[in-house]
Amino acid sequence: MVVELVYPGKKPEREILSNTPVANIRKLYDSDDTDNMLIWGDNMPVLKWLLDKGGYVGKIDLIYIDPPFGTNNVFTVDGTRANSVSKAKQGVIAYSDIFKLEEYLEFMRERLILLRELLSEEGSIYVHIDSKVGHYVKIIMDEIFGVKNFRNDIARIKCNPKNFKRKGYGNIKDMVLFYTKTDKFIWNEPYTPYSEEDIKRLFPKVDKDGRRYTTIPLHAPGETNKGNTSKPFKGIMPPKGRHWRTDVRTLEEWDRKGLIEWSNTGVPRKKIYADEQPGKRVQDIWEFKDPQYPVYPTQKNYEMLDLIIKTSSRDNSYVLDAFCGSGTTLLAAQYNNRKWIGIDNSLLAIKTTIERLKSVRRNLFMPNVEFSVLIGEREYNTQQYNIDEVKSLLNVIKQFSL
Ligand SMILES: C[S@@+](CC[C@H](N)C(=O)[O-])C[C@H]1O[C@@H](n2cnc3c(N)ncnc32)[C@H](O)[C@@H]1O
Repeated sequence: MVVELVYPGKKPEREILSNTPVANIRKLYDSDDTDNMLIWGDNMPVLKWLLDKGGYVGKIDLIYIDPPFGTNNVFTVDGTRANSVSKAKQGVIAYSDIFKLEEYLEFMRERLILLRELLSEEGSIYVHIDSKVGHYVKIIMDEIFGVKNFRNDIARIKCNPKNFKRKGYGNIKDMVLFYTKTDKFIWNEPYTPYSEEDIKRLFPKVDKDGRRYTTIPLHAPGETNKGNTSKPFKGIMPPKGRHWRTDVRTLEEWDRKGLIEWSNTGVPRKKIYADEQPGKRVQDIWEFKDPQYPVYPTQKNYEMLDLIIKTSSRDNSYVLDAFCGSGTTLLAAQYNNRKWIGIDNSLLAIKTTIERLKSVRRNLFMPNVEFSVLIGEREYNTQQYNIDEVKSLLNVIKQFSL
């Protein structure tokens, strides 16, 4: 069964794939040393260019997008502070987020269809969204990526509790929808370190060397008639309906090394030491509060992107953010030695991204940040960009000596 949203203006998928115009790409700054690209333009024709001309079909291992949420706001930056106002009276407009619901859903759907084509067979996509539109986007993503490829709906705690005046519960979370292209996706199991409290609770015992540990049963559910996990160990058989966790020879080795604890009644259990554990598995409630003084409106938490990139890509994977804003994803990709592509149609976003990427502390692991800067114009309208805006971008490129 496929459940689909029906709304006015919903186009057939094949029309989106074949009729989307391809951007006319111009290089403002070309770097020979890298594949990293920062592209100023509407992401729809630019994504189509990546597919039809760029050679990126099935090449991207990780996509993170943080699109507008249909908030009916215009986001501005005035001097030092990035903020959102519903009527942009002061400040430079960073981007506008005014849509009718059905327009918004189709805007997202069109882009998600193209993004799916770019994803590699081992690829993952994370869509950061709020709970006003997120549940509709979930249904659209089920339609595009398949319900079987849905992995998580992550609740992200985004800020401290606020003293809301309006009736209803305070809103301190948004959501990140995580899908993969197939069930063979890149997954580097992430862990968070144990707190002192966790260690005391989870590893209540202390050995003669002062090391904290706990014990777990040596057997697991399921009976096996053949094999080394159902043979006697020190004359003891696993309880009925269960088998040893490992073969008897390994159990004997553990025992020799003092890794098995015997109870007074002669029941063996395996010792698990706190200092040998990688930490706690990461769950689907994340606390990554956004910066208090962002350089760009709705700038996201760097550590959250670092976690996503470490978990769902590998060295040299391509990471794509098609709504890159101030470039948080690109920065995290760069630090993690991934190749990256960032797209945004706001000039301010592109300038801010260049500034952030070029101002990162240079260290041994990241000697220099190299990337090309491109303009993606719609083929049928090469006059899309104002010449003064292009000049101002060229100045930023010069200023940061790209
Ligand atoms: C929520 S912000 C992204 C913030 C970003 N995650 C960060 O950490 O700075 C959304 C971005 O999408 C961009 N955007 C909106 N519509 C777009 C479109 N059609 N093509 C490209 N970028 C678009 C806006 O200019 C804005 O910078």
